[in-house]
Amino acid sequence: MRLAREVAGLRFPNPVLLASGTAGYGVELTGVADLARLGGLVTKAVSREPRAGNAAPRVAEFAGGMLNSVGLANPGVASVRERELPGLAALRLPGRILVNVVGFTREEYAEVIQRLDDLEDHDGYELNLSCPNTSAGGVEFGADPQSIAAVVGSCRAVTRRPLFAKLSPALPDIPAMARAAREAGADGVSLVNTMPGMAFDGTRPRLGNGFGGVSGPALLATGILAVRRVRERLGDLAIIGVGGIRSAADVRQYLTAGADLVAIGTAGLADPRLPERVVADLERGHG
Ligand SMILES: Cc1cc2nc3c(=O)[nH]c(=O)nc-3n(C[C@H](O)[C@H](O)[C@H](O)COP(=O)(O)O)c2cc1C
Repeated sequence: MRLAREVAGLRFPNPVLLASGTAGYGVELTGVADLARLGGLVTKAVSREPRAGNAAPRVAEFAGGMLNSVGLANPGVASVRERELPGLAALRLPGRILVNVVGFTREEYAEVIQRLDDLEDHDGYELNLSCPNTSAGGVEFGADPQSIAAVVGSCRAVTRRPLFAKLSPALPDIPAMARAAREAGADGVSLVNTMPGMAFDGTRPRLGNGFGGVSGPALLATGILAVRRVRERLGDLAIIGVGGIRSAADVRQYLTAGADLVAIGTAGLADPRLPERVVADLERGHG
């Protein structure tokens, strides 16, 4: 299988990325994974202000994968600009770097991008649209085409780099939301983010925040269908398939459904060398 590809104007050595929030800002994984084997990496969220995140426990395992409520903990754009992104650039990885951006207003998303865009440490942005829009009563940005258009349009105005809009699997019409993102200037979409979920230990919620996001194997079929539906309706949009990937066979399913690239999250948390093995299996035509 020929693995190198050009997507949204960027050259990827292979289609396998690390998913946002599961690889930190790359440096955290040096020594435990060979990041140079991957197609790229999506950073942990970056917001305008530093965020401490939600109450512990922030993760809980269950039979189908895991629940997390990290709460977008991150050091904020000033630190990411001064420390995390230069640290990642110093690794001189052959793959592409996408910075995951979050905000609670459209202006915050655009400001984060504006404050990073003169750096040469990264290649593009992934907009996490599963954030509550505080200017619209807390409904997530990705749930409403007008909010999507507002965020993506504000970001498009401040960068020429590729923009990927990351959408929740819990939306009734994912292709309509992907279309709104494209019309506002997105180059692609990342499908999917975590699925809302909750688990109890006796009468006590297992997450400090009460509820969180489901990731891992439980999400595989959901992510594949989201990719398929968007590909059927939007033939030329770049798609990063995310959710439940653990093997080269899982990657092939996403590519068959219409993804151009994939990202591995939870499976790499449990075993940091799994993503590079998936690349090796794809190269050999195994898995
Ligand atoms: C611990 C954890 C933190 C995450 N943080 C982010 C984040 O900061 N931004 C984001 O867009 N997605 C985040 N995600 C979602 C993942 O990028 C991915 O979309 C999701 O976990 C599904 O992929 P997986 O089943 O391979 O984990 C996070 C997921 C996990 C498990």
